[in-house]
Amino acid sequence: MDITVTVNGKRHDCEDGPGESLLFLLRERLGLIGPKNACEQGECGSCSVWLDGLLVNSCLVLSAQADGCSVRTVEDLAAEVPERAPAAGAAGALHPVQQAFIDAGAVQCGFCTPGMVVTAVDLLARSPRPSAEDVRREMAGNICRCTGYQKIVDAVLLAAERMAAEPAAAGPSAAPAPAAPEVALP
Ligand code: FES
Ligand code: FES
Repeated sequence: MDITVTVNGKRHDCEDGPGESLLFLLRERLGLIGPKNACEQGECGSCSVWLDGLLVNSCLVLSAQADGCSVRTVEDLAAEVPERAPAAGAAGALHPVQQAFIDAGAVQCGFCTPGMVVTAVDLLARSPRPSAEDVRREMAGNICRCTGYQKIVDAVLLAAERMAAEPAAAGPSAAPAPAAPEVALP
């Protein structure tokens, strides 16, 4: 069965293998390796993406369920900030949450960080000034297996502070970007 899905504003018509997950489609068919495959059981949050504006564990969603939907991944975050939009790979074009993760020393490994960042952006879109307790509760579905969570909490609070001081830098809400011209895949 073939499916059509809009990912980060680009429409894709792609092949759909039986039982394949949305995570597989993103990583293996579309080459978007931001969402990580860590547990593949809905336990760790490393594969988090937005599906029609709702945060989901993409390893638990069948790609067929995404047919006709809009998906947004961590790859799209930097581009959402108009005045920081990258000029073809320019450094520093990061979402305030990404920048705060760097500044607070919260970028600990490549496996958990994308899911943590996406969850933090989602939280701040709904609750712009969360408490540390709110952050810990909202990030409970994102597991780090090796270090700790304090710097991650610090980073989310830092991002909240910066985004409150400079709302334009936060860009639009976490809703998926509108559809763009079709890209047919082999
Ligand atoms: S890989 Fe999907 S929740 Fe862990
Ligand atoms: S799993 Fe990423 S720092 Fe522990």
